[in-house]
Amino acid sequence: MKDFTYYAPTEVVFGPATETRVAEFVKKWGGTRVLLVYGGGSCVRSGLFDRVKCSLTDGGIPFVTLGGVVPNPRLSLVRQGIELARTEGIDFVVALGGGSVIDSAKAIAAGVEYEGDIWNFFMRTAVPQKALPIGVILTIPAAGSEMSDGCVITRECESGDEKKSFSTNICRPRFAIMNPELTFTLPAYQTSCGIVDIMMHTLERYFTRGDDMYMTDAIADAVLRTMMECGGKVLSAPLDYALRASIMWGSSLAHNDLTGLRGQGDWAVHGLEHELSGLFDVAHGAGLAAVWGAWAEYVADYAPERFARLAVNLFDIPAAFGSREEILTTARAGIDAMRSYFRSIGMPVTLTELIGRRPTEEELCHMADMCTKNGTATLGSLRPLARKDVLAIYNAAIG
Ligand code: NZQ
Ligand code: ZN
Repeated sequence: MKDFTYYAPTEVVFGPATETRVAEFVKKWGGTRVLLVYGGGSCVRSGLFDRVKCSLTDGGIPFVTLGGVVPNPRLSLVRQGIELARTEGIDFVVALGGGSVIDSAKAIAAGVEYEGDIWNFFMRTAVPQKALPIGVILTIPAAGSEMSDGCVITRECESGDEKKSFSTNICRPRFAIMNPELTFTLPAYQTSCGIVDIMMHTLERYFTRGDDMYMTDAIADAVLRTMMECGGKVLSAPLDYALRASIMWGSSLAHNDLTGLRGQGDWAVHGLEHELSGLFDVAHGAGLAAVWGAWAEYVADYAPERFARLAVNLFDIPAAFGSREEILTTARAGIDAMRSYFRSIGMPVTLTELIGRRPTEEELCHMADMCTKNGTATLGSLRPLARKDVLAIYNAAIG
């Protein structure tokens, strides 16, 4: 087992109406002048935006707003946010939304404190040393950005948009306000995308090399089972508080590293997916569902016992741990069962289903080039994937 340092500094404030306390937590964490970042308007339509503005006004906290963050958030708006925050003398950023809004807030917070080009962080040619503090009011459980160190942004390019990430502890939010009732308005498709993403954040950490860590595996099993169970029910009961609350907390637990305290993590499926959402502007969770099965079949031979363990624990597939062939048969049954589950919650399980047509060979080659830096880098740790492997997986995922 890999040694670890566990760091999850975000203060979680969970329950109904907690968004009305935002001013209290901004003050607690030292904010005096806020940039309030939000998305395309769901929070305006639901009345949440007004409640948050009231809380800041009543608490005596001046603020300016920046709306218009889109899913797969764009660098151009981040640049605008950096300028706005500098001009307005902002010392605290509040994100009102999901992964796209939170990541935009993180990039703005780091960009304000950096004299160079913010994209350097994503190209890994510079490392953030300082960032404004951030707080979150979460409206969609999915990306886990409310407690994670990650930040994912898309740069608009004529030759095809580029989606890249950076990770740093200094961008972890100081507080995350989570009111499950805020997620009652989520469309079914977004709910399902979130469920897949939460499961994937667990699975990326589950499929690693390394010795056993029973506690971490037990937590991962619980997150996966609970997400599957709640995900299956919530689509027909969108106003069920207990289901929404479990999914919301699952979002944070799956990506605050709690399920990763065993090994290095793989993250190949995320690498494969970020090219999909970068090129086709699809929802991240849907992209993950579309490519996971092809990835799993391609690498199952490298960890057959782990895949078989998942099949038995998650899908109650009868254990057959005799010969290697038996183990692989169990593993493959688990992969098929996972695909069926994704289908049952309305998710695509092939690239053709994901984008509504067959991707072209040129598109697949472009994505393979992007995620392996033109064949000079590999993806993932369980079975490091070279460009030809990536291309084989994309082709197998076409459907
Ligand atoms: O923009 P609005 O109008 O608010 O609509 C949003 C958006 O269209 C809508 N929505 C959010 N809350 C809602 C709601 N609609 C109705 N009621 C509500 N309560 O949902 C849509 C999707 O929002 P988005 O923020 O894009 O979703 P998500 O949280 O899945 O974030 C996806 C982004 O996060 C990145 C992804 O790559 C993607 O760019 N990720 C970030 C990570 C991180 N920072 O740690 C890790 C993840 O693996 C992921 O890569
Ligand atoms: Zn993800």
